[in-house]
Amino acid sequence: MPVRLVEKYAAEFIEPGKLAAVRSRLAAADACLMEHPGGNDFKGWYDLPINYNRDEVAQIEAAAAKIQANSEVLIVIGVGGSYLGARAAVEFLHSQYYNSLKKDTPDIYFVGNSFSGDDLHDVLSACEGREVSLNVISKSGTTTESAVAFRFVRDFMLRRYNAEQLRERIFVTTDKEKGALKAFADREGYETFVVPDDIGGRYSVLTAVGLLPIAVSGADIRAILGGALDMKNRLDLQGMSNDAYRYAAYRNMFYEQGRTVEMLGCFEPSFRMMTEWWKQLFGESEGKNGKGIFPASVTLTTDLHSIGQYIQDGRRMLFETVVKQKETRYEMRVPGMNTDIDGLGFLAGERLSDVNDRAYLGTLLAHTAGGVPNIVIEYDRRDEHDFGELVYFFFVACAMSAYMLGVNPFDQPGVEAYKKNMFALIGKPGYEKQKKELLNKIESLYKE
Ligand code: PA5
Repeated sequence: MPVRLVEKYAAEFIEPGKLAAVRSRLAAADACLMEHPGGNDFKGWYDLPINYNRDEVAQIEAAAAKIQANSEVLIVIGVGGSYLGARAAVEFLHSQYYNSLKKDTPDIYFVGNSFSGDDLHDVLSACEGREVSLNVISKSGTTTESAVAFRFVRDFMLRRYNAEQLRERIFVTTDKEKGALKAFADREGYETFVVPDDIGGRYSVLTAVGLLPIAVSGADIRAILGGALDMKNRLDLQGMSNDAYRYAAYRNMFYEQGRTVEMLGCFEPSFRMMTEWWKQLFGESEGKNGKGIFPASVTLTTDLHSIGQYIQDGRRMLFETVVKQKETRYEMRVPGMNTDIDGLGFLAGERLSDVNDRAYLGTLLAHTAGGVPNIVIEYDRRDEHDFGELVYFFFVACAMSAYMLGVNPFDQPGVEAYKKNMFALIGKPGYEKQKKELLNKIESLYKE
């Protein structure tokens, strides 16, 4: 069974006839998605599973094979859409402990997603004395977090490798012609990969942005693209009542009930980074003009021991979307003990996956009884195909949700505000006036 929507734990929270009434808004959103209005041209992700660049996929596989052959570690520099998808895939397909597993592929470290010197220091220490390759990913080529990390990592590599060796080890994923990074890569002779013009960062995991690091981890990137294509074909076939559109419709109906927070829950810790990727996708796409569902996430049952109380019993502004994996990779059976000290002797020999399933069901029933609707999205297993299906499902659902809400899913004007302040405060030339204003503001805050 492919990725699918299970509605029964959500439907009881919707007045009869409401889903049918929302159809006209779905149709309007669908028209926007088909026409990508507003002069925006960021819909390259939509047909990507059909018309992706075959030559570039082969180039990615060749680069991944080279990195696997000559490196013990791949450092990936990128922030936001330029790292979350790849990291989510590595953890989903392998493990959150990927770097500690016994394997014949390189460790993969993600940096350049903060300004933390401690974090960067720890990664560089872990790379000391090991053969290293670098994939720097930035569509704009000017993102400060990534650019600063690039200086550090390149310096680190220059201590070990000469310019010619660096050309075998540094791979740059950026705009096909614009930006400082592209110019620098061309000048130094680094191999480059393209972030297509019409694909924004958070919709880019199925391009070289995600596919190169994922391929280095040993995953089959063609199977990922195949999964995305299967999902696309199925959504097209199902037409206006497809699962992604229905998910978008439920989200919207819950939002109108005053449920302004969506909790994406999973029962597999390997899905945790997928929830981070999902948060960026929905948060950056929807949260604008004073509108939008706040995307939050929980890993269960872990977080039932932290914020479970709130979900069950706190302010009723929530709905949950639970992602449920049907098959586990390893069958772990609960061991027996010669003394039943914990009173759990009845579980001896039971599969842990069955216990997890019952915990899932118990949680679902408890939360719905507590007044929290639950939308369920099922997938079969942690493999490349289902990763591709999930990603494409969420892309479509997200774009539709945003259009239903009346916002542009493909821009992110709000992320500039912190950057302007930061540039002013770190003394970037051209920001002198803002710096003065900010320092005055800070001073007045202290006076009060
Ligand atoms: O989704 C987005 O557009 C952003 O999250 C970007 O991916 C992020 O800001 C990084 O940008 P860039 O790839 O230009 O460095």
